[in-house]
Amino acid sequence: MEKKIALALDVESSKEALDILKEIEDRDLIIKVGYSLFIRYGISIIEDIKKLGYPVFLDLKLHDIPNTVYNGVKAAVNLEVDYLTLHALGGELMLQKAIEARGSSNLKLLAVTILTSHSEDYPEFLGSSLTVDNLALKFAKMAVDIGIDGVVCSSHEVENLKKTIDKSFIAVVPGIRLNSDKSDDQTRIATPKDAVKKGADILVIGRPILKADNKNEVVKQIKESLR
Ligand code: C5P
Repeated sequence: MEKKIALALDVESSKEALDILKEIEDRDLIIKVGYSLFIRYGISIIEDIKKLGYPVFLDLKLHDIPNTVYNGVKAAVNLEVDYLTLHALGGELMLQKAIEARGSSNLKLLAVTILTSHSEDYPEFLGSSLTVDNLALKFAKMAVDIGIDGVVCSSHEVENLKKTIDKSFIAVVPGIRLNSDKSDDQTRIATPKDAVKKGADILVIGRPILKADNKNEVVKQIKESLR
């Protein structure tokens, strides 16, 4: 698939968010909206972003009983967002209900496996003897086998996931930095080119674009590095 950039629009006000999007000229970007904007502004921020011509990635990481997730996914379909995240940890039935709710719409469902903020003792906390990497692989494989469209994973996992999971899926990779010396709070980073080489399909990039004086130039540079 064509490689895409998802701009993580991690800002607090809708004005700031829309000013950034008006400044950006590239309508090829996917716009990732998380808790901060969605809880403050709900439907209106999604509609405003769509009006500007961008696809929307709603990053709500759903995790609840299957029926509740079914209703949440239905609402996302009505909102006409393009991507929605949910936790693979919610289990097979929850994921199946999400797929049922998505129906024949264009919504792509993306599974989160183990959050990168968890440490090596997390599987034990869950009662598993697997390593974090193997548990993440198990969840990713389960989600893709069920029919989930993509998996959010780090640049360090993506190569192994693409090798091990035989069905094709969208690999969504955050932790992208234009050069390796500026990591902010990200621990497992890769350049756009390296992440794509390892199998990333959608690069989730926030601060390297948001904090740039010339955002269009940075987007252009990233795209050029992917060619
Ligand atoms: O600013 P930065 O490029 O680090 O933003 C990365 C985005 O990806 C943020 O919205 C963050 O929440 C998200 N993310 C991440 N690491 C994960 C999953 C999601 O950084 N493991």
